[in-house]
Amino acid sequence: MLFSDISILTPDFTIQEHQYVAVKGNAICYVGDTPPEQDCGPLYDGKGKLLLPGLVNTHSHSPMTLLRGYAENLPLDRWLNEKVFPFEDRIQGEDAYYAVLLSIAEMLRTGTTSFSDMYFFSENVARAVGESGIKCNFSRSIVSFAEGSIGDLPGFQESEAIFRDYHHAFNGRFLVDMSLHAEYTNQVSIMEQFAQVAKDHNLQVQIHLSETQKEHQECKQRHNGLTPAQVFAKAGVLDQPTVAAHCVWVEEGDMELMAEKGVTVATCPASNLKLGSGICNLPMLLQKGVKVAIGTDSAASNNNLNLWKELYLAALLPKGITHDATAITPAQVLEMATAQGYAAQGRTDCGKILPGYRADLVVLSLSGPHMTPSTNLLNNLIYAASGYDTLLTMVDGKVLYENGEYPTIDLERVKYEVSRRTRRIIREVNQG
Ligand code: NI
Repeated sequence: MLFSDISILTPDFTIQEHQYVAVKGNAICYVGDTPPEQDCGPLYDGKGKLLLPGLVNTHSHSPMTLLRGYAENLPLDRWLNEKVFPFEDRIQGEDAYYAVLLSIAEMLRTGTTSFSDMYFFSENVARAVGESGIKCNFSRSIVSFAEGSIGDLPGFQESEAIFRDYHHAFNGRFLVDMSLHAEYTNQVSIMEQFAQVAKDHNLQVQIHLSETQKEHQECKQRHNGLTPAQVFAKAGVLDQPTVAAHCVWVEEGDMELMAEKGVTVATCPASNLKLGSGICNLPMLLQKGVKVAIGTDSAASNNNLNLWKELYLAALLPKGITHDATAITPAQVLEMATAQGYAAQGRTDCGKILPGYRADLVVLSLSGPHMTPSTNLLNNLIYAASGYDTLLTMVDGKVLYENGEYPTIDLERVKYEVSRRTRRIIREVNQG
């Protein structure tokens, strides 16, 4: 496929107009301001459109789309205990499978080409990812409420099985990470064993970190003043490449520790605002040299998986909390959502429009009233664009969404199944 006469977002986050980008197999094979000499297959007319690297959603729980709109206006602990856990107890494998497909459809529709997921129903998630064509770093999250051997935990056993059966599956689109749900849901000895296993297999790690003030303070009470970041670090968990979701309440010392360990923060601004958790201090994280990427968290606390909404918030909130309109730039936010996200997933050949990089690409319409005039396209992208300006989404050179059509997903069937299954679960919850 040849994208002709199209504007592109360059690796240094500038816009170049009238470019030609050719895709061969799963990779970009040509970028230039004249058409390539060899025949590159079907032509895509790029006039009035922008080609950019696909976005990476670095923190999600894709089966939880079943809970969209179900539990609202509650603080995190009540939201979890009173609404989310009773609902989750009744989710079955096929329910999760259809919910993941719906999540993937929403992500593809809004320009996300890869996501990092933390949940259970590992096989069902793998199946949906495999069929849909998207990329995913999946982790089966582990909780432990008593000391013991990690090998006895069902979550760990499932994590081992999914690693054995699906790590690098679907031509490397599906990677298996390891996950500890959070400090407050785990024992230190389990964390230490977890760190050893992650190190032995050289696996990436996903955790929730200092999401709420309560969680952060209670950890310090339990652990002689140690913060969740310090507890994880002491147990060796942060020695592996780690994505830490939220980090709303991390302290300056935590930030320095995370910078030293190379931890990537997955900031989830909408979820943090909606659950009343607070606002992540992106300017200070960046100033301390911490890597930052962006996530939606689940549709139960967002309620979309449209990453562009998060980009908008990630660009505005830093200005609001610092009273400084220069606190963060559109280019920085775009980097977090593309190259940083892929780097956090360990996918070093993705996230840039350069020859040799994977063809994970998105075409955005620039013709909407909200995108006119295009005096500065970077500003328009962050402050004016919508995920629904996406015309085409491609992963590994395959078109997975174009102009309302999904070649790999039967969206009507998926919507029907998710609605029907959600009604069943709610009926079961209400019957006790
Ligand atoms: Ni989460």
